[in-house]
Amino acid sequence: MPQSKLNPINAATRLCGVLGSPIGHSASPAMHNAAYAALGLNWRYLAFEVDPQNLRAAIAGARAMNFVGLNLTVPHKLLAVDMVDELDVSAQTWGAVNTIKFTPAAAGKIRAVGFNTDAEGLANSLREDLAVTLRGAKVLLLGVGGAGRTAALKLATENVAELFLVNRTASKAEEIAGEIKKQFPSVKISVGYPQAKVDLLLNATSLGLKPEDALPLDDKQFSLKQAGAVYDMIYQPAETRLLAAARAAGCKTANGIGMLVHQGAKAFAIWTGQPAPVAVMRRAVEGSVYGK
Ligand SMILES: NC(=O)c1ccc[n+]([C@@H]2O[C@H](COP(=O)([O-])OP(=O)(O)OC[C@H]3O[C@@H](n4cnc5c(N)ncnc54)[C@H](OP(=O)(O)O)[C@@H]3O)[C@@H](O)[C@H]2O)c1
Repeated sequence: MPQSKLNPINAATRLCGVLGSPIGHSASPAMHNAAYAALGLNWRYLAFEVDPQNLRAAIAGARAMNFVGLNLTVPHKLLAVDMVDELDVSAQTWGAVNTIKFTPAAAGKIRAVGFNTDAEGLANSLREDLAVTLRGAKVLLLGVGGAGRTAALKLATENVAELFLVNRTASKAEEIAGEIKKQFPSVKISVGYPQAKVDLLLNATSLGLKPEDALPLDDKQFSLKQAGAVYDMIYQPAETRLLAAARAAGCKTANGIGMLVHQGAKAFAIWTGQPAPVAVMRRAVEGSVYGK
C-alpha cells in the first residue's frame, strides 16, 4: 500500500514530541508522523533527549513555543506529575503523566494538562491482540514496577474476577494487593502463584529484554499449560523466551507492541480530537522496531 506523504514543513507546521533519556531508539516519531501523514495534518513529531534535571525547563520551552503536546517516557512519567497545571482523571488515577496537551487559556496563557494513556493502551492491546475479555477473567501478573502497578490497577477497574500478583520484591506486591483490596473489594486478589488455570498471564517484569535473561516465572510453581493466553509487555525481542515457551505450551501469545501503539493512538486522539489511524500507526511502529 502506498505511504501517505507528510506535508512539507512551513511556518504553519505544528510540533509534538517525546522527552526521555535514553530516547535514541524510540519508535514514537515514526508512529506519530505516519499518522499525521495519513490524516493530512501539517504537524511533526520529534524525539528529544532530556535529562531529568532539565525536564521542567523542557516542558516550559515546549509550552512557550506553542507545541501541541508532548509524550513523556522513562524516566520522566512520575516527575512530570508536579510539572503540569492540571491532571486529567487518567493521570490522577495512575499517578503518572505520559502525555501533555497544551491548551490556550485566559489572558493569552497556555495551560499544560497531564494525561496517562498507558493503562488504556494495555487494555486495548489485550482486547485487540489476544481477544481477551477482562471482565470476570483470572489473571496472573508478573512484576509490579511502574508498568505492572498500572496494569494491576487497570485490570481491577476492568472488573477481572481474580488477580494473582508475583514480584521479585514480594513486599511491593503485598502493598499493591492492599491498595486493590481497599479500592476494588469485588476483585479477589492474592500474592503468589495460582493453583488452578488462569485466562491470562501478563509479564510486566523487565526479564526477557536480554537474551540471557531467565524466564520471569517459576515454572516449578506454575506451568504455562495452565494459562489460556500470555502477554509480554516487552516487544524487543519480538518473541521473548516466555512467549516462545508459551507458544510451545499451546497458549495464545502477544508481545507489547500493541500497547505501545494504543497508548500512542490515545495520545493522538487527545491532541487532535480525532480517532487515531491505529493500523497505520502499527505498521509504522513495526517498520521502525522490526524493520518490516
Ligand atoms: N509495551 C509497552 O508499551 C511498555 C510500556 C511500559 C513498560 N514496558 C515494559 O515493561 C517492563 C517493566 O517496565 P517498568 O517501567 O515497570 O520497569 P520497572 O518499574 O523498573 O519495573 C521492573 C519490574 O521488573 C522486575 N525485575 C527486574 N529485574 C528482575 C529480575 N532480575 N528478576 C525478577 N524480576 C525483576 C522488578 O521487580 P522488583 O520490584 O523486585 O525490582 C519490577 O517488577 C519492561 O520490560 C518495559 O520494557 C512496555
